[in-house]
Amino acid sequence: MSDNTISSRLYPTRIDIPAEARVQIVVLLNQTLAATLDLKTQTKQAHWNVKGTDFYQLHLLFDELAGELEEYIDMVAERVTALGGYAFGTARAAASNSILPEYLFDILDGKDHVTALSDRFAIYAKHIRQAIAKTNELNDLDTADLYTEISRTIDKRLWFLEAHLQVAEIKAENGKTSTTNTQRTPAAALK
Ligand SMILES: [Fe+2]
Repeated sequence: MSDNTISSRLYPTRIDIPAEARVQIVVLLNQTLAATLDLKTQTKQAHWNVKGTDFYQLHLLFDELAGELEEYIDMVAERVTALGGYAFGTARAAASNSILPEYLFDILDGKDHVTALSDRFAIYAKHIRQAIAKTNELNDLDTADLYTEISRTIDKRLWFLEAHLQVAEIKAENGKTSTTNTQRTPAAALK
């Protein structure tokens, strides 16, 4: 049986959500499962390989994030099966179905790991927010609630990651502004 056949097949269940809606929700949840597995392993990759002066606090933070994602993997996969679907939870399934780009293997410094993870958490956060709207539309408020729980934590974790970068980003932005102002000053003075 091909993956496509399995992904649209539902096991018999007495749950009162219509099968047409459940097929769509199961496909969406399997996309989320793949992305969550991928994001968790990428976060572990950062946990193991981070170097630099902030090594220890980032090593611990990345492990905490990976632990939360591990919980979501189980919650998402079990929502698939509760809806009568088949959960695709292997590493190969995750690699072929994930919406995330592969991790960068040539980075060492803490800031670069934080940037790489921020980029990936942002993509994941967007996917989860879209899934809240989609499952609401399909009248599956329980799956929408699961997505909402994940969304709230992922937004918070994106903040935790980006807080490491924002001072430098603000300074870079101010630097650009002041350069622009310096360039404009002589022209303005001529008026
Ligand atoms: Fe560890």
